[in-house]
Amino acid sequence: MSEIQSLTLRRPDDWHLHLRDGEALAAVLPFTARQFARAVVMPNLKPPVTTVEQAGAYRQRILKAVPHGLQFTPLMTLYLTNVTAPAEILKAKASGFIVGCKLYPAGATTHSDAGVTAIEHIYPALEVMQECGLVLQVHGEVTQPEVDIFDRESLFIEKTLAPLTERFPYLKVVFEHVTTHKAVEFVQQARQGVAATITPQHLLHNRNAIFQNGIRPHYYCLPVLKRETDRQALINAATSNNPRFFLGTDSAPHAQHTKENACGCAGMFSAHAALELYAEAFEQAGKLDRLDAFASEHGADFYGLPQNSGEVVLERTEWTAPEHYPFGQDRLIPMRAGEKIHWRVRTEHSA
Ligand code: NCD
Ligand code: ZN
Repeated sequence: MSEIQSLTLRRPDDWHLHLRDGEALAAVLPFTARQFARAVVMPNLKPPVTTVEQAGAYRQRILKAVPHGLQFTPLMTLYLTNVTAPAEILKAKASGFIVGCKLYPAGATTHSDAGVTAIEHIYPALEVMQECGLVLQVHGEVTQPEVDIFDRESLFIEKTLAPLTERFPYLKVVFEHVTTHKAVEFVQQARQGVAATITPQHLLHNRNAIFQNGIRPHYYCLPVLKRETDRQALINAATSNNPRFFLGTDSAPHAQHTKENACGCAGMFSAHAALELYAEAFEQAGKLDRLDAFASEHGADFYGLPQNSGEVVLERTEWTAPEHYPFGQDRLIPMRAGEKIHWRVRTEHSA
């Protein structure tokens, strides 16, 4: 049998992650800390993390929740608003623990109502970010109700992102969780300093998954899953060894009852099997050998951080993802709940 049975990777990082807070944080952080050395932590708490002081306090709560024996470094972000002061950006840079600022167009996704209503409002902040080298992380979707949900990312590129990357020619920009072939093409052709993260769900599924034999709220995330042709473009980008594309799970836990609801929340939880799900996607493309660079090198290089020194081993082992995990007083339904996963991460810390 010539199938690869195990794969050793440099310890990876997750460049886009939702950890929430309180009991939810305690419930989900161990999954990420087990696999990843670092993660870029999204600031869309309620209320959002808009100041360095809040980010510092949140960082301390995260560090406290790291299980004993695991090494994990949270890389913090600030949530940009219409009134983010340039002075706060300078303070963020000086903190040493903040790597970037997140642009949520107001109303685009979960907890984005405090986001930016017109891009001009953040020009002063972007000016300073460009000067001091903080990364702009972008949720790239327009929000006008008349624009079809499947076209929101493409239109955002045209209306906002392309002009922005020209207006601020040295600003480092990560186009988060890209979902369309248009986004892939944009990133491939953009100026230097523009990159993108790709989630496991957008590599493994197209939008049919949301409607298979009924409506499936656990396949609902934002940006929403797209067409098969888009998925193929994402697979090609992720497995191309192009340093502009790297791992960002967008693992976004929500309590079961808030997803299985007449108005269900957007977000899929993948941290319990993040690297394993990426491995499946890369293997399907016949490109398992490219996973290391995507998961463990490109992101660190883009952010100007050292690559990690430890290793993780992925083994070909079939296991069944639990139907649910505890989530404070609630339950969390993970990606692939009750279904088989074909790889398993073994770390120095796990049996
Ligand atoms: C994220 C969340 O739940 O915080 N949801 C999602 O569907 N991805 C927000 C986001 O990243 O858009
Ligand atoms: Zn996200």
